[in-house]
Amino acid sequence: MFTEEDNEALTRVGPGTLMGDLMRRYWMPFLLPEELPAPDCPPVRVRLLGEDLVAFRDTNGRLGLLDRYCPHRRVDLFFGRNEECGLRCVYHGWKFDVDGAVMDMPAEPINSPLRSEVKIKSYPIVEWGGLIWAYLGDRAHMPPKPPELEWGLVPPSHRHIGKRLQENNFAQGVEGGIDSSHVGILHSLLDPAKAALPFRERQQAIDPKVKYLASDTAPRFFVRPTDYGLRIGARRVASDSEYYWRVTQFLAPFYTMIARRDETGPIAGHAWTPIDDHHTWTFTMHWNPDAPLEDIGAVDSAAVNVPVYNDGSYRPINNRSNNYGIDRDVQRLSSSTGIQGIGLQDSAIQETMGPIVDRSREILGSGDAAIVAFRKLMLAQARHLRETGELPLPNQPELYRVRSVGIVLPKGVDFEEGAKARMQVA
Ligand code: FES
Ligand SMILES: [Fe+2]
Repeated sequence: MFTEEDNEALTRVGPGTLMGDLMRRYWMPFLLPEELPAPDCPPVRVRLLGEDLVAFRDTNGRLGLLDRYCPHRRVDLFFGRNEECGLRCVYHGWKFDVDGAVMDMPAEPINSPLRSEVKIKSYPIVEWGGLIWAYLGDRAHMPPKPPELEWGLVPPSHRHIGKRLQENNFAQGVEGGIDSSHVGILHSLLDPAKAALPFRERQQAIDPKVKYLASDTAPRFFVRPTDYGLRIGARRVASDSEYYWRVTQFLAPFYTMIARRDETGPIAGHAWTPIDDHHTWTFTMHWNPDAPLEDIGAVDSAAVNVPVYNDGSYRPINNRSNNYGIDRDVQRLSSSTGIQGIGLQDSAIQETMGPIVDRSREILGSGDAAIVAFRKLMLAQARHLRETGELPLPNQPELYRVRSVGIVLPKGVDFEEGAKARMQVA
């Protein structure tokens, strides 16, 4: 039984909360580099783990992440002037460098002690792997670099990263990312000629190469703990002598990887970065470890990535206010949802549960084994950290070098053994 108290502990991410303290032990991606494209470009408003911040790139190209509000009289530094290696508040001109030190106080006497006494809150920030990352925790525990997820290691030509705003808690996103049993249902397509047939006869997999998604809609789950989180095997019947396994990864605290279709195609995964309790940055990654992504257009299409406003909000153009553009004719004839695109289908169901789903009111089935394991793992981590000051998982960047796979194996072969070689990142 997942209590209301558990739900609170799992989902609250602000300063001083159980999960917030856990997240503050990890580097977190939150901006695309194009949001801070050049030295002295306009600063960007940031909200991360419930904290209001401002990010900027200084004259020398260095990145800074400061408290949003000027320590003088609390003016929003988004309006600041980004000039000569610092961000200057427009009200009385206090100016701060990327480390939060005061560079100038033009409205104070030249020998004012405030110049050396005042500092604005600042956090470490780096650009790596096609994203900009921040570390909001105690620096004594800061990992040396962001986690070495494979999409960050491959050359830029081999990856594509999309970003969208989701108006729901991060855990709802993670739970969607490791929920293999919805793939053959929520994301399924229909053949209009079969649309009137009973459910099991009309189902068609989103990917025709993976027909098992439609032929076996009730996978059995096998969840194994790892040094980075969870390895989740979803087993479907492929033939009398074989199973089709989708091995999904959950990497703490909020990364997921969905099964690769075959040995040569792109892999997909997500980061679900908590903006605050009720909002999440969803980053969708596609990468091919072996070759440039040939058809970025296909990956970037509305079928996969969600079209968003380009005003910096990353809010989907189809969103809750228009029921995600649902087309009931399409739903009747050619897709389960009538909503265009995998990403938007996921957003639609995750957001409309409410910003924080009431997990104490769910009725879980055997297909939810991975979701249960995720919740237990995260709560155990956070509670252990609170009690001992130590993280149970090692939190080392190199442990994140793993892949997801989709693989057909003879019955009797353990999925971790059978898929081992294909889960390794060189
Ligand atoms: S409020 Fe920023 S300098 Fe006065
Ligand atoms: Fe999905």
